[in-house]
Amino acid sequence: MEYSEKLKEMFINHQAKVGIIGMGYVGYPMAYLSASRGFKVIGLELNEERVDMINRGESYIQDVSGEEASEMVQKGLLSATTDYSEMQNVQVIMITVPTPLNKTGDPDMGYVFSVLDMLTPHLHSGMLIVLESTTYPGTTEEIFPPVVVEAGFEIGKDIFIAFSPERIDPGNIDYGPRNTPKVIGGITETCTEVAMAFYEQIIDTPVAVNSTTAAEMVKLYENTFRAINIGLVNELAIICHLLKVDVWEIIEAASSKPFGFTPFYPGPGLGGHCIPVDPSYLAWKMRALEYKTRFIDLATEVNTGMPVWVVDRVVELLNEEGKPVKNSKILLLGLAYKAGIDDLRESPALDVFRLLQHRGGIVCYHDPFCPSVQIDEETVLSMDLNSDVIKKQDMVIITTGHSNVDYKLVVDHSKMIFDTRNVIRSFEGKGKAKIHFL
Ligand SMILES: NC(=O)c1ccc[n+]([C@@H]2O[C@H](COP(=O)([O-])OP(=O)(O)OC[C@H]3O[C@@H](n4cnc5c(N)ncnc54)[C@H](O)[C@@H]3O)[C@@H](O)[C@H]2O)c1
Repeated sequence: MEYSEKLKEMFINHQAKVGIIGMGYVGYPMAYLSASRGFKVIGLELNEERVDMINRGESYIQDVSGEEASEMVQKGLLSATTDYSEMQNVQVIMITVPTPLNKTGDPDMGYVFSVLDMLTPHLHSGMLIVLESTTYPGTTEEIFPPVVVEAGFEIGKDIFIAFSPERIDPGNIDYGPRNTPKVIGGITETCTEVAMAFYEQIIDTPVAVNSTTAAEMVKLYENTFRAINIGLVNELAIICHLLKVDVWEIIEAASSKPFGFTPFYPGPGLGGHCIPVDPSYLAWKMRALEYKTRFIDLATEVNTGMPVWVVDRVVELLNEEGKPVKNSKILLLGLAYKAGIDDLRESPALDVFRLLQHRGGIVCYHDPFCPSVQIDEETVLSMDLNSDVIKKQDMVIITTGHSNVDYKLVVDHSKMIFDTRNVIRSFEGKGKAKIHFL
């Protein structure tokens, strides 16, 4: 029997063993999903502390609960290792390691290359390898075939290679890895078929495309679409401020149009490991082809300028009260890059924190999800949110709109609040605090 048919049969019977390389925000939920669908999963992770936690049935990722992890470990469906030789015994590998930008803003594929180096000695016939890390179009086709062919295997016959972008939205309670459709493109047609056959067993809606490059491009288009629309609405916030109209009112009223309009919301900047980073992958690839990605470049310029604009507004608002930023006490409410999660990566609130500190502000923060944060050389701890702490502040800036914050307490005891997320609109005019919106 051909390997492709053998694998499909093993997927249907749930006999295939799954290896997930990189057990982070993406890898752990995918491991849990595969295990909960009845596959035996082994997480391959270089961080020993994480490996020990997984094997004890504990979770360090918000989207997988300790109970869920523990149930899978007890059933013998989930374990973890640091040992790449374990990949000799798996039929499916998902690669979910980081793909950051380096200091010059170019893609850093170092993690993916190091996975390939360590995996190569353990390649074997009858395996499906899926890269899930976000990357520039053309990556999978460029870097996998040379290694696999050099190791003596035929792609689409012995080993099946596909790219399937991860669409995980941390903290989203309506759409998780199982009910979010997933795009899949293989190097050959058979690769796509084999990959589809696997994902059909674990998710509700796999969506096939014709190539790995198409699948890579889909992910970048989705996130570039968001980055550009957020750039547009951030610029709209600046325009509305100059025109002395309320940007939130404009967005709400525009949203009454039942067709041809999608609301996006402004904020202190773009954060997270994806939306600010992914368009740069496309821009980088296009630079190599001597094409300038004007929309991406402009949106990046607007979005990265937002923390500075927010700080300028803070200066303006303090000024109106006759206070300089220097020695003003400022509390940032929410540091994570978006509401409801603990992820601080690329968070614009951190830029606001640093910029205000550099201008001499005495800055502290409260974030129910992030107990501590590294600001340059200093480890800063989240303050308790109580009336005494709030009363001491010259200004409270709502930088992330977490829902589990007692905003009434904040409104009741603040002198001035600058709400960059429009979360305390219902308190407007109700307390003594002067409330300003982005
Ligand atoms: N976080 C998100 O919301 C999200 C959403 C969609 C796509 N993505 C993409 O998914 C990929 C992974 O992102 P993440 O947020 O899960 O990263 P992460 O940093 O949370 O997790 C990556 C894990 O990989 C491990 N690792 C690094 N090198 C390794 C190696 N050689 N072998 C084994 N383990 C290794 C790290 O120790 C870490 O635990 C990235 O390409 C990212 O762009 C992330």
